[in-house]
Amino acid sequence: MTTFVCNPSESVYGYIRVPGDKSISHRSIILSSIAHGTSEISGFLEGEDSLHTLQAFQDMGVNIEQTPSEIIVHGVGMQGLSKPTRALDMGNSGTAMRLLVGLLSGQVFDTQLIGDASLSTRPMKRVIDPIQLMGGEINSEADGTAPLWIHGGVPLKAIHYELPVASAQVKSCVLLAGLYADGITEVIEPAPTRDHTERMLRGFGCEVISTQNKISMRGGQSLEATNIEIPADISSAAFFMVAASILPQSEMTLNHVGVNPTRIGIIDILELMGADITLINEREVGGEPVADIVVKSAPLKGIEIPKHLVPLAIDEFPVIFVAASFAQGTTILTGAEELRVKESDRIQVMADGLNNLGVHAQATADGIVIQGGPVSGGEVDSHGDHRIAMAFAVASLGAKTAITINDCDNVNTSFPGFADLANHAGFQIEVT
Ligand code: S3P
Repeated sequence: MTTFVCNPSESVYGYIRVPGDKSISHRSIILSSIAHGTSEISGFLEGEDSLHTLQAFQDMGVNIEQTPSEIIVHGVGMQGLSKPTRALDMGNSGTAMRLLVGLLSGQVFDTQLIGDASLSTRPMKRVIDPIQLMGGEINSEADGTAPLWIHGGVPLKAIHYELPVASAQVKSCVLLAGLYADGITEVIEPAPTRDHTERMLRGFGCEVISTQNKISMRGGQSLEATNIEIPADISSAAFFMVAASILPQSEMTLNHVGVNPTRIGIIDILELMGADITLINEREVGGEPVADIVVKSAPLKGIEIPKHLVPLAIDEFPVIFVAASFAQGTTILTGAEELRVKESDRIQVMADGLNNLGVHAQATADGIVIQGGPVSGGEVDSHGDHRIAMAFAVASLGAKTAITINDCDNVNTSFPGFADLANHAGFQIEVT
């Protein structure tokens, strides 16, 4: 099991490009596989999560070439996937499993989806329910968890679906099933969530209509191959944004980061806390907004995090809690119960870890209350959650003494090479 021993540091600095966006990487494989023709994908995240998606489509007969600079997908068309000879293994990835539930329910063959110990405890009823309403047939464990058995050859009908939780994964699942359904599928969101699926479907030539809180799409459309340039992942950049903010005399430029409006909650929250962040070279690449993000150290203050920003920063809360620990005053988060069903229970695991480091952090049912104050060294456990591990590595920068972080293998799910890149920027991480 990998352990990070992280020592404090004076400052962080430099110009770096973090790996490709995980959400967009999954979608690039899924949509290019069912498109007609060959798609070239650059900037793909070679992390375990997105590689599980890639492997799944290879298992379904798609010819996918991996070169050092790009992924080349020879799409088989909407009906061209073939029955895999084994269960499709989604590893640690909730996105892969939930999006594939939608896509696979439209195929003519049966499939089984499995995942690791963490994924096998995560709620799947949220995607099974709408697919069953569309006429799909899925079996799960009694408590609605994986393994999942998806029955093919069942005709799907379009539905009008009001999402019970603000979830891009559930929205995307329904839209992918909707591609195979008869009629117009409509999804209503309680709050905006990341819209990479809608943007990429349009890039593949599908007509998808987004109005205020409704996404509509006609079934039976076909996808035409296209080339995709994946920006750097703002969720990975977030660790360096907080690092540069909390350490004095620090400045980092994060190159070519995706700044889709449905993902920039981290920037808005850090700015409300007093962070010094500037977006430069703003441009659009392949239907997604991209910018270089310049972050300079600044004194942070505690805030009440506005609820509407929660879905827009959903993956960044572990490191936002670290920012709150180094801020002056109290930070209060509410409306974030979803954090309890991520790769770990991120509210409890972060509260426990911060308490171990002498920070007053009180978990609540749907959030946390954190008093900024000195952060001591100590030992914490990531509970196999990549973002928890990296968040505590950021905490170590300004801690009094070293922080030992146990169970860090999963950093490879989203950020291969994290320790090297972080050390290059001024972190002091020893990997053992
Ligand atoms: C994702 C959506 C989010 C996010 C996850 C990736 C996606 O999950 O937490 O890491 O790619 O659609 P929910 O949509 O379930 O909140």
